Amino acid sequence: MYYPDELVEEVRMKNDIVDVVSGYVRLQKKGGNYWGLCPFHNEKTPSFSVSGNKQMFHCFGCGTGGNVFTFVMNYENYTFPEAVKHLADRAGVKLPEIEYSAEMQQKVSRRARLLEVNKEAAKYFYYQLRQPNGQIGYQYLKKRELNDETIHKFGLGYAGKNGAQLVQYLRSRGFEDDLIKEAGLANFSERGGLLSQFWNRVMFPIQDINHRVIGFGGRVMGDGEPKYLNSPETPVFDKRRNLYGLNFARTARSGNIILCEGYMDVIAMHQAGFTQAVASLGTAFTSEQASLLHRYTENVLLAYDSDGAGTKAALRGIEILREAGLTGKVIDMRPYKDPDEFMKNLGKEAFQERIDRAENSFFFEVRILEQQFNQKDPEEKTKFHREIAKKLCQFKEEVERENYLQAIADKYHINFENLRKLVLNYAAQTGLATPLQRPKSGVAQKNKPEENARKAQRLLITWITDSPGVYAKIQKYISAEDFTDELYRKVAARLFDELGQGKFNPAAIISMFEDEDEQREAAALFNTSLPELTTAQEQEKAFRDIVLAVKKNSYEYYTAKLGTDVNALKQVIEGKKALEELSRIRIAPN
Ligand code: CTP
Ligand code: MN
Repeated sequence: MYYPDELVEEVRMKNDIVDVVSGYVRLQKKGGNYWGLCPFHNEKTPSFSVSGNKQMFHCFGCGTGGNVFTFVMNYENYTFPEAVKHLADRAGVKLPEIEYSAEMQQKVSRRARLLEVNKEAAKYFYYQLRQPNGQIGYQYLKKRELNDETIHKFGLGYAGKNGAQLVQYLRSRGFEDDLIKEAGLANFSERGGLLSQFWNRVMFPIQDINHRVIGFGGRVMGDGEPKYLNSPETPVFDKRRNLYGLNFARTARSGNIILCEGYMDVIAMHQAGFTQAVASLGTAFTSEQASLLHRYTENVLLAYDSDGAGTKAALRGIEILREAGLTGKVIDMRPYKDPDEFMKNLGKEAFQERIDRAENSFFFEVRILEQQFNQKDPEEKTKFHREIAKKLCQFKEEVERENYLQAIADKYHINFENLRKLVLNYAAQTGLATPLQRPKSGVAQKNKPEENARKAQRLLITWITDSPGVYAKIQKYISAEDFTDELYRKVAARLFDELGQGKFNPAAIISMFEDEDEQREAAALFNTSLPELTTAQEQEKAFRDIVLAVKKNSYEYYTAKLGTDVNALKQVIEGKKALEELSRIRIAPN
């Protein structure tokens, strides 16, 4: 922690969350809370709520939430200390500078300087494009059918033929040589000293989600190698964690995000009105980028090149999306090579149709697989069917697997039962999937026991948060140790401690965690949806069930640890006693 806890808490208290969030999101008061469209995912009806009482926000759509620091970290892409600093400035709280170690201080200001030099370089390229010497670049962009508005929106520019000019300019603005070099804007050469890295190219500034320039891509005008030259990785340019165009796409509210291969594709798509298009940064799509996308959407449409390399990249992309829990679909670009060409030839209505007809990624994979086998040769055809069966094993959920099995059997005219047997074989051999049985009820068993236990723990914390008075009634039976998840236990310990002292401040508890994901998880504890119950009996029963579920899980957890953990025996004995007592008495939550 860079700042003392009390100071962090002072900053938090002086920044009312409703005020702060209102600066970013239009909020409307409904009941005790404020509601608006979630800025962290695409939605058309408000499920984003801000509570003035709790000083927390929570989105019922995407599950994100936290206190005022979490919000600013999430929205501005700040680290925890950066968010504290930002809100301290906002409220006029003075922070001690010394709390940053010298090393940390340097790191922070180095990043800031790198962003500054990038911004200055972007301005320089942008200006050059409009100079007589830059006409060649401007004409090239015009030839690619980009209009002035688009060129402006993406801040496109031109790096001239004089390699020393950019460096001179940046020096004149007070940037040191080693900073210019570290930003990847120039390199030392034996003969010319420090020279621009980019030479006679049209320039694509790459921005992070907050529109800050973090790097560049430069394209040769016409044929030439390499086609694109990209900035190297720097402390501000992480190619695995950023996406071209996401600064605009994150607020497109289109219900999906379109993933393309190239910068030009993204730009052509935005110009046509598809402002949800993004692309990776001259490297293959990564799992980090998939998680980043997951913050904004559930649905990703792949608009990769229709050639062999594009197909291969799409297959890999699908896997990465699947691992990140995203639904991927594939847009068919044929007969054109990429979205840019498609748009030029067929236009946006035709593209919208392709979006609507985007292919389920599993069907896409099987269709590509099909091409690798000669369907006229029974042996090859059999191999194809085996491959399908193997692939079907990836669906862990029975109902889903069954549905795909059915669909593929129909589509490729394969006997359903035979294909099922094949799947069963592979499942048994590889242990990839549990043996397949026809679902009896048609309802999938959704939750694992651990998840149910965690849910009960969340419900209990939320209940106590909403009606702190109930704590006194269960204090005897429940302790922080009953929370079997480590993060939950920390939260419960602090919460119970505060309640014991008659204080109570859930939003402050979130500041214990510096990591955004941990803050989100901690916040979820205070914002679980409680069942809607009207009568006192219903409430009493629900509350009792929750307390019992927490206690029972804790009892089982420590019983399993008996013999390895000195604490376990004590917990088990107390747990047993509490469970017996709880089954006899009434605990009314109000
Ligand atoms: N790329 C790269 N270096 C190269 C070639 C490609 O970094 N030498 C990256 C760029 O990010 C590029 C993407 O791969 O945008 C896709 O390549 P390609 O389809 O060849 O480029 P386009 O963006 O479609 O550009 P254009 O339409 O001008 O050919
Ligand atoms: Mn292209």
